[in-house]
Amino acid sequence: MNIALDGPSGAGKSTVAKALAKRLGIIYVDTGALYRTIGLYVKRKGIDKGDKEGVISCLPEIDLNMQFIDGEQVITLNGERVGDNIRTGEIAMYASAVSAIPEVRSFLLNTQRDIASKNSVVMDGRDIGTVILPNAEVKVFMVASPEARAKRRYLELIAKGEDCTLEGVLADIIERDKNDSTRKTAPCVPAEDAVIFDNSDYDVEGSVDKVIEIIRTKVNI
Ligand code: DC
Repeated sequence: MNIALDGPSGAGKSTVAKALAKRLGIIYVDTGALYRTIGLYVKRKGIDKGDKEGVISCLPEIDLNMQFIDGEQVITLNGERVGDNIRTGEIAMYASAVSAIPEVRSFLLNTQRDIASKNSVVMDGRDIGTVILPNAEVKVFMVASPEARAKRRYLELIAKGEDCTLEGVLADIIERDKNDSTRKTAPCVPAEDAVIFDNSDYDVEGSVDKVIEIIRTKVNI
């Protein structure tokens, strides 16, 4: 079974997808981590995130591998585990910029399809229902207000010791939303057959219950 869980940054997809995967005993695939890894490489090389040709010229140098060890997604970049190096606000902005480049998206396409063809997955991203897994049995598009998302992301970053402000996080979210939803290739929009779920007023448990309810309308679990 393939479940596509798409939606904008900070809508709580990863938290919900993780809990959902655990409940259903399937694999959670975080596709944003792949774009973040490309962003990390580009940043380390000192290439401007807006330099499309520069980013494309990096791709042949990148050996990116995604594995699942004890159910945990592990990404290696040229043999190095990326770990939390991809989890900063700065790398999120690099990821957003590189993800608008069609060559980057095709570079990552097979990695995503391969894992879904061999396993039952809940895959979280932006274009999973529209491009990566158009035949997924269940498609959920999760949204929440920019303010609700900024507050959650701010608390996460602060807990990790990042220096940031709520206003700054909200501004980044609005900018990323704009980048992600207006780009020409694979914009972040719901698939025609996706169920849209606004979780602004739901906590994690409530969101997971709701998504399970949606899944039950589509498949037998
Ligand atoms: O989900 P995230 O915040 O880790 O994603 C980082 C960036 O990657 C985000 O700005 C949009 C992009 N992305 C994408 O274009 N397609 C995906 N399937 C996942 C993420």
